Amino acid sequence: MKIHKTMRVLVVDNCRESLNLITSTLEASGFQFTAVTSVAEAIRVLEFTRVDLVISETMVHDMKGLDFIRYMRDNFSDLEILTTTFNPCIDDAIRVIKEGANDYLIKPLNVDQLLSAVMRMKSKLIRRRQIQEETSRKSYGIIGESAGITGVIDNIEKAASYNANVLIRGESGTGKELVARAIHYASERAASPFVPVNCTAIPESLLESELFGHVRGAFTGARDGRAGFFQIAEGGTLFLDEIGDASPAMQGKLLRVIENKEIQIVGSSRVQKINTRIITATNKDLIFMVQKGLFREDLYYRLVVIDIVVPPLRERKEDILTLAHHFMNKFIKELRRDPPRFTDGALEALKNYRWPGNVRELENLIQRLLVIVGRPVIDVADLPSYMRFQMEHRVDPMRTLADMEAEHIRSVLQLTGGNKTRAANILGIDRKTLREKLKKYCIPDKESGN
Ligand SMILES: Nc1ncnc2c1ncn2[C@@H]1O[C@H](COP(=O)(O)OP(=O)(O)OP(=O)(O)O)[C@@H](O)[C@H]1O
Ligand SMILES: [Mg+2]
Repeated sequence: MKIHKTMRVLVVDNCRESLNLITSTLEASGFQFTAVTSVAEAIRVLEFTRVDLVISETMVHDMKGLDFIRYMRDNFSDLEILTTTFNPCIDDAIRVIKEGANDYLIKPLNVDQLLSAVMRMKSKLIRRRQIQEETSRKSYGIIGESAGITGVIDNIEKAASYNANVLIRGESGTGKELVARAIHYASERAASPFVPVNCTAIPESLLESELFGHVRGAFTGARDGRAGFFQIAEGGTLFLDEIGDASPAMQGKLLRVIENKEIQIVGSSRVQKINTRIITATNKDLIFMVQKGLFREDLYYRLVVIDIVVPPLRERKEDILTLAHHFMNKFIKELRRDPPRFTDGALEALKNYRWPGNVRELENLIQRLLVIVGRPVIDVADLPSYMRFQMEHRVDPMRTLADMEAEHIRSVLQLTGGNKTRAANILGIDRKTLREKLKKYCIPDKESGN
């Protein structure tokens, strides 16, 4: 079965005999495995590769078995853990299970028992993967658990059950198109086309023909008749991206279609009834544009019956690592490699960066890192320099002014090698004030030896 290949087993045992028995059983059944004889090695394997099942002796010599189980539970919550022991004591068994092991086998091992325990865990793994898949289908491939993204998913569900026009607002790369597709495919229109159109890409001279189609010979060069976007999207959804860039002419035409629910094909006197839902998206401040007279107010209200705002990534920091993980799994499959591990520093930098290009920027970065950094560990030094810089100089919106002042004074003092006169000059305060601040913030005053 396919899962045999995708389930990876780590065997930890310092007894050669048991190790051989376990590995030969796994090998005979076609499982992929790594075998080690110490906890230290096991931790390295766990940190650098993906493991689904660990079969570990509880008494491996370099760490107490229980501590190792606790370590695995704390750091790799999805692992299946099967423990083995020579010491058939019920108290031990209870403790091992309490710490998070999933099963317990008594040595000397019996091949059949071992295999059936492994198969049980395999079934659990398959079930868990199915559940994960189903959950991700329910969220329409939109990854994230932050309040911001859960709110968006709720709105998608509401929007899918109505037929009203939807406006999706959000910065570039936040996932607006993903949201538009999700609404379409969750709606009754799913079997009909979803037609994405970028409003900036329609040449003004062909506007009407592109939107409504034309008949043969409608204008010079129109040798054949052609369907417009509204006809292509009939019964389905027309997704007008970058609606904030729609020209005044286009705005006028859209308004008429929405009001009359019919279009006139270029070169024909025929009007055609249409049944197309319109979802629009923009990264511009449309209300501001309406106030400035750059966007028609009447059209705005027609488009924004349902208003969905996709928050920027920096406002849902909880999603950053989940998304990074998701993209890593996505790209690693193409590269046929084990996923690398990010160091704590690198993860911290990812979390603290402002992501002006939002999810798209994160997706591109992960792809680039996987290709450029061939090593199994990705560290801060592998990240682009602008990200490292931002980490060192991050501005946490929850910090107090005093905190920031103290940090700034520290970094200026570092720059001047502790010279207070120069530091005070840079800071634009006198030495006395600087001394007071050093005291206030408990910054060691190197010159006076405090
Ligand atoms: N929550 C998410 N989960 C998974 N992938 C996401 C998520 N948000 C965005 N993406 C991915 O990020 C990329 C950018 O998303 P999308 O094109 O939908 O953004 P956009 O808001 O339309 O951007 P733009 O304003 O630049 O057109 C896509 O590859 C998309 O699949
Ligand atoms: Mg887009």
